[in-house]
Amino acid sequence: VSAPDLLVVGAGFFGLTIAERCATELGLQVLVVDRRSHIGGNAYSEVDEQTGVEVHKYGAHLFHTSNERVWEYVNRFTGFTDYRHRVFGKYQGQIYSLPMNLGLINQFFGKAHTPAQARELIAEQSAEIATEDAANLEEKAVSLIGRPLYEAFIKGYTAKQWQTDPTELSPDIITRLPVRYTYENGWFSDTHEGLPVDGYTAWLTKMADHPGIEVRLETDFRDLREDYLGSVPIVYTGPVDEYFDHSEGRLSWRTVDLEQSVEDVDDFQGTGVVNYNDQEVPWTRIIEFKHFHPERVRTHLPGKTVIVHEYSRFAEADDEPYYPINTAEDRAKLLRYREKAQAEPMVLFGGRLGTYQYLDMHMAIGSALSMFDNRIRPHFAEGAPFA
Ligand code: FDA
Repeated sequence: VSAPDLLVVGAGFFGLTIAERCATELGLQVLVVDRRSHIGGNAYSEVDEQTGVEVHKYGAHLFHTSNERVWEYVNRFTGFTDYRHRVFGKYQGQIYSLPMNLGLINQFFGKAHTPAQARELIAEQSAEIATEDAANLEEKAVSLIGRPLYEAFIKGYTAKQWQTDPTELSPDIITRLPVRYTYENGWFSDTHEGLPVDGYTAWLTKMADHPGIEVRLETDFRDLREDYLGSVPIVYTGPVDEYFDHSEGRLSWRTVDLEQSVEDVDDFQGTGVVNYNDQEVPWTRIIEFKHFHPERVRTHLPGKTVIVHEYSRFAEADDEPYYPINTAEDRAKLLRYREKAQAEPMVLFGGRLGTYQYLDMHMAIGSALSMFDNRIRPHFAEGAPFA
């Protein structure tokens, strides 16, 4: 068997974008390996056999971008529905429309405020603490939106996400808490938004569908390393600390436990996502997937629906790493790993795990396109060093 021109570790959006560009633009033979049994990384989804509902296996994935280049690129592989994401939140027996906006403020305070009156109210309530004096997350949030809204919509949810009281959390976790003084309740404010018409897996499969690309699943890079390292250029999208056998210590992550069930009702909650803001309720959100694709109503089994309860916690060594915690200690370790990564012969590190960064899908794709332009094409087309 001849060696590939390029080895890509990880068949998520980052790895597949690199593979697709290299095969299509440069005519390279690319070997993509992933240790999971499916492609797509965390964006993978599958249709639940019983109900016909597409389930996002690693948490709800909503596509949105304001990056025109990314939007043009992704449209080569899939069409998008006109789905607009909205999120609701339950607090003390009432449902509110999020994010915090004029509708929520008026409902919460039992008022009919104009935008100017609502602004005045929140300015008064947030005057309690100056933002620059905030010593912890609670004080920072109170300084931004006032205590009543903080206690209802931030406190319990944040405590559950972090399993830590917000007075013990760093104020740096939040930079801003936007309040909209209109009734606009679209969750994202990007130029483009939608869900892939035939689902995520069809989209990801199309990206990999090129004679120059071979995908090998259930294949761990750690077992191939000796065969390829130093002889074949590698794009590595696995965890950077694992690559170096955690020599500088483990980077810390939060994970989410996803408890999936089929309920015997046609419609469980009337919308895709409901946050649970009360601290006593152990889950943070419930996702009901059928609402992401109202246009597929004929393919969904009536009388049944798939839901997922989400529970957030710190990740142990064997858990799926989802959100980087990014403590000062993590940042110091990351700097040392970056130095090591730069010295690694012919290996480029990318993607959310390879760079220890939360990346939305459009960001993972965008940064892969940049790596292709700035590092990979110059190497194969002009003989520039690979890494
Ligand atoms: P990704 O993790 O997808 O892929 C990496 C792959 O590498 C994995 O398949 C892994 O198995 C493989 N791998 C690792 N080590 C390996 C090894 N040693 N050998 C072989 N294979 C190895 N984004 C968005 O735009 N909208 C959204 O709504 C959401 N929602 C969301 C919810 C949750 C809970 C999370 C955690 C994330 C999101 N995202 C999101 C972000 C989205 O999941 C993210 O942008 C992409 O997964 C990034 O793609 P990557 O290719 O970087 O990583």
